[in-house]
Amino acid sequence: MNYITIDELPRHIGEDVRLRGWVRRFRSSGKISFLVLRDGTGEVQCVFVKNEVSEETWAGLEDASHEACVSVAGLVRADDRAPSGVELTATGFELLGASAEYPIQPKEHGVDFLLEKRHLWLRSARQIAIMRVRDEVIRAIHDFLHDDGFTHVDTPILTGAIGESAGTLFETEYFDHGKAYLAQTGQLYVEAAAAALGKVYCFGPTFRAEKSKTRRHLTEFWMVEPEAAWMDSDQNMDLQERFVSSIIQRVVLKQREQLEALDRDVSKLEAIVAPFDRMSYSDAVDLLQKQGSDIEWGSDLGAAHEAQLVEGREKPLFVYDYPKGAKAFYMKENPDDPRTVKCDDMLAPEGYGEVIGGSQREDDYDKLLSRIREEGLPEDTYDWYLDLRRHGTFTHSGFGLGVERLVTWICGLDHLRETIAFPRMMTRITP
Ligand code: 4AD
Ligand code: MG
Repeated sequence: MNYITIDELPRHIGEDVRLRGWVRRFRSSGKISFLVLRDGTGEVQCVFVKNEVSEETWAGLEDASHEACVSVAGLVRADDRAPSGVELTATGFELLGASAEYPIQPKEHGVDFLLEKRHLWLRSARQIAIMRVRDEVIRAIHDFLHDDGFTHVDTPILTGAIGESAGTLFETEYFDHGKAYLAQTGQLYVEAAAAALGKVYCFGPTFRAEKSKTRRHLTEFWMVEPEAAWMDSDQNMDLQERFVSSIIQRVVLKQREQLEALDRDVSKLEAIVAPFDRMSYSDAVDLLQKQGSDIEWGSDLGAAHEAQLVEGREKPLFVYDYPKGAKAFYMKENPDDPRTVKCDDMLAPEGYGEVIGGSQREDDYDKLLSRIREEGLPEDTYDWYLDLRRHGTFTHSGFGLGVERLVTWICGLDHLRETIAFPRMMTRITP
């Protein structure tokens, strides 16, 4: 008999089938045994009645330990009480891969222990739900951008130029060329590609040697970075709000079951529909000061400021046009107030903070060069980037959306570490 998968069971009611997978739970009264099997497509309860199976099968159930890999044969029955709508009246059992003393028990474990056993922790129902949501988010990202006319361009992970800030670089020796860095962003490269293809995006792992142990920072995270010719800062925010609304509504539509398994209040996500409110940095500082904050104009907003600004809001808030000194060298000087740059951060509600950072890029050769000099960046490694302003400079903008930040918010989690299969943090490199 061929194997089928658990998600196929509803089409086989009344038939004898064979399944294989891992033992989620097993309990026995001595006369009847219940084995919950999962196989990556779902879970099903298999019921063994001592008087109705062979002695050999009944004896074999001794090996049905937590997370053992097994094969079960039986008759598929409709069962309204079962979450999957079916149950298996089992007739056969075979051990495929034993599991003795599975380390993760159905009790509370500390998160350090669980991270140490991350390769096994992934099998838990909660982690499976999160991985399914993440997968949906990633598909939604690609679909939205392709439907909107963007072309996917892969950018290098080993780079010679600093993308964001010198303080958080992972360095390595690169043959005879001195130092190479792990990419903090693909942005500089998608800017070059935008002059070839118009609307482009890169999507890959990015690296930041952040010496911060916050719940919002990983050292390796995935970022999608759309970049478009002719787009200004306002249009950049239009795109961002359409993008985020569309991803979230797709997850709500397609992964509601997983969100419910995570106890997420789905109505909070249903409210995330474009447009989102926009507030200038200067207005944000005024507001914070009126509310008693001692923030001064010119300093970057911290996580606490962001939380205060979004407090009581159902939807994300854009804060735009930050002071030059708080932002990266490549952002366009604001013609209306040269102390500021044309940029925006999208701050998510419920305290999730910045999920997107975006900007219009400096397209003036002299201004860009002087910013590179002011920041003390090695000029020769940016020569190719300056070429984009020497040869047909153009209005363009883009942004970076952090996948783990978005998935954390969508799933309603309190830490980024569960949103990626194998998180890389300052304190952890294994498994
Ligand atoms: O604001 P950031 O640093 O912007 C850039 O890297 C630009 N080059 C993007 C662009 O314009 N193409 O990072 C963008 C987003 C943040 O809003 C956040 O969601 C995420 O990347 N992010 C992190 N996520 C996890 N861990 C970290 N250490 C992160 N740093 C940034
Ligand atoms: Mg940022």
